[in-house]
Amino acid sequence: MLEDKRILLIISGGIAAFKALDLIRQLRKRGAWVTPVLTKSAQEFVTPLSVSALSEEKAYTDLFDLTDEAEMGHIQLSRSADLVVVAPATANLMAKMAQGLADDLASTLLLATDTQVLVAPAMNVRMWQHPATQRNLQLLKDDGVAFVGPNEGDMACGEYGPGRLAEPDEIVNAIQTQLAEGPLTGRRVLVTSGPTHEPIDPVRYIANRSSGAQGTAIAKALLSLGAEVVFVTGPADEPRPDGAHVVEVQTAQEMMEAVQSVLPVDAAIFAAAVADWQVVGASDSKIKKQDGAIPSLNFAENPDILATVSQMKKGRPDLVVGFAAETDDVVENAKKKLSRKGCDWIVANDVSPETGIMGGRENAVILISDNASETWPRMGKDAVALQLAERIAIALSDAE
Ligand code: CTP
Repeated sequence: MLEDKRILLIISGGIAAFKALDLIRQLRKRGAWVTPVLTKSAQEFVTPLSVSALSEEKAYTDLFDLTDEAEMGHIQLSRSADLVVVAPATANLMAKMAQGLADDLASTLLLATDTQVLVAPAMNVRMWQHPATQRNLQLLKDDGVAFVGPNEGDMACGEYGPGRLAEPDEIVNAIQTQLAEGPLTGRRVLVTSGPTHEPIDPVRYIANRSSGAQGTAIAKALLSLGAEVVFVTGPADEPRPDGAHVVEVQTAQEMMEAVQSVLPVDAAIFAAAVADWQVVGASDSKIKKQDGAIPSLNFAENPDILATVSQMKKGRPDLVVGFAAETDDVVENAKKKLSRKGCDWIVANDVSPETGIMGGRENAVILISDNASETWPRMGKDAVALQLAERIAIALSDAE
């Protein structure tokens, strides 16, 4: 599966750098080509010679190596790979990546590349848990960078916790996932997910019970079939899908703006549970109790994102899929929703409390299009997602 794939492997400093040697060995065994790049501190732990011997390629170390510039410029080097892998990635290199710093060969390549990047962090547990590192992690994930690990365990420094470099075979698996080619390779797909929060005042908001589980599972399934995924999510608990370009929003209005800013896409899947109403004139300061008087809230309708995109005159995605969360007359209501909103498919489900679907791990859906309605058996949200992603791939290739 990795036969003749080109990996640009950036090795940064840290005791875990020695595992990069095994990683190179495993990648070569699977037929991949590895071009190694070592930071200055990585060279304290592994030598360019050993890395070069295992990869059978020149190990790059210096941005200002003029011979290399003549042979292959750093821009070209950064783009000649199918995947850029950073293993191990130190807290320092992650911080540089998040801020766009380019002060050595490794960070310059990471800033210049237009190729997908997979990062395997390794650092002391406190450094990993530090708010600065967690902030950088989030920034990088939002930029579409994928991560593998870190794992939890005993650390070289004697502490215990998350921070250990993922094992070489786990990194190889993550590389295989990233390079997965499938029926959606070359397709850009938008997924909205999670609830929205509509503020009442700075501390209170109106929300709903959506966990974001189904939307996240759909994004992962689309990624596994090779799609480029833009994931616009409200404040959901579910961890964000690795490798997607993530846009975080709070309100329906923000979701609408985020969706418009990421178009065009080949397909758009609206799995978010968008609040239908927003509070008019949400207060800038906390509303206080006033002698037993009950405050009254005025509502205005939120923009309908699904209907807006479905009814676009120019640049409409080839496939627009909505969800219908219903508690009564599921099919009838979903069919009405399909024609009212103008989407191509509706994934309808019964979210009555006794089904345990909203916030649960399973889903039972009915896929409704203009001329058909198909009841799928109850299954895990991941299985629903994969089946839906496969159907999306077929529909997009039929639309060509
Ligand atoms: N949706 C949207 N923007 C909104 C409301 C809903 O994009 N402002 C999308 C949801 O993501 C979902 C579909 O529309 O794909 C159906 O949402 P739902 O809330 O179930 O339907 P409503 O439009 O609210 O209709 P009703 O209140 O009659 O159920």
